[in-house]
Amino acid sequence: MRRKIVAGNWKMNLTKSEALSLYNNISSAENLAADVEKMIFAPLLFLDALKQNESGLIKIGAQNFYSEAAGAFTGEVSFSQLKDLGIRYVLVGHSERRVIFKEEDELVKAKVNAAINAGLKVIFCCGESLEIRETGTHISFVVNQLKNNVFQLPEEAFGQIVIAYEPIWAIGTGKTATPEQAEEMHEQIRLAVAQHYSNYLAEQTPILYGGSCNAGNAKELFAKPNIDGGLIGGASLKTADFIQIINSF
Ligand code: 13P
Repeated sequence: MRRKIVAGNWKMNLTKSEALSLYNNISSAENLAADVEKMIFAPLLFLDALKQNESGLIKIGAQNFYSEAAGAFTGEVSFSQLKDLGIRYVLVGHSERRVIFKEEDELVKAKVNAAINAGLKVIFCCGESLEIRETGTHISFVVNQLKNNVFQLPEEAFGQIVIAYEPIWAIGTGKTATPEQAEEMHEQIRLAVAQHYSNYLAEQTPILYGGSCNAGNAKELFAKPNIDGGLIGGASLKTADFIQIINSF
């Protein structure tokens, strides 16, 4: 059985007190599915406070970091500083980092390598734009992101990776991929992992869906054989919705 995971990506939202109370409300819910791994990727600024308040039930992760351990990188936070806070999970390759902050494959790859070498667990995000989907090259585009950003890892290190397929056209737009569209891509991602590494690793690797996944559509998405959970943006900011998504398997 593959791990099931529901992760919330709070993005650049909430004040510190809102973040703490949202975290506490979710983690104190009585009916959270026990067989689902639960994570919250919070703004860097609140990680320390959240970590001190962490319940065993919901892990805290970082949305971003830089690929060097320390040095003259004004405004950045390093993977070693995250580790020092006890953070064990990081997002890498989110399309908002790639598109808005111009993170190219080279940097995404360096961040993947740095995090894995530091013993962090990576949720690697990939996904195509609408333009690419309309040309029909979305599968090769996403497989190339894997080749360029994560397939350099040795087999054992790749075992620390969770993949999140997030089609850019579905993020924050209310326009979710259909379960069939998502399943098609997840199946191809798993095939690419099998071809590059092994069937065993392909079977073990959790592949999450992200992009307007909400309390209303999570059940249908998570019912697909290759969809192992979700990376949730907007709906992770609402306690009841996020709990419902966690309980959607
Ligand atoms: P939304 O769920 O708001 O579409 O965001 C998805 C996402 O980008 C999660 O990382």
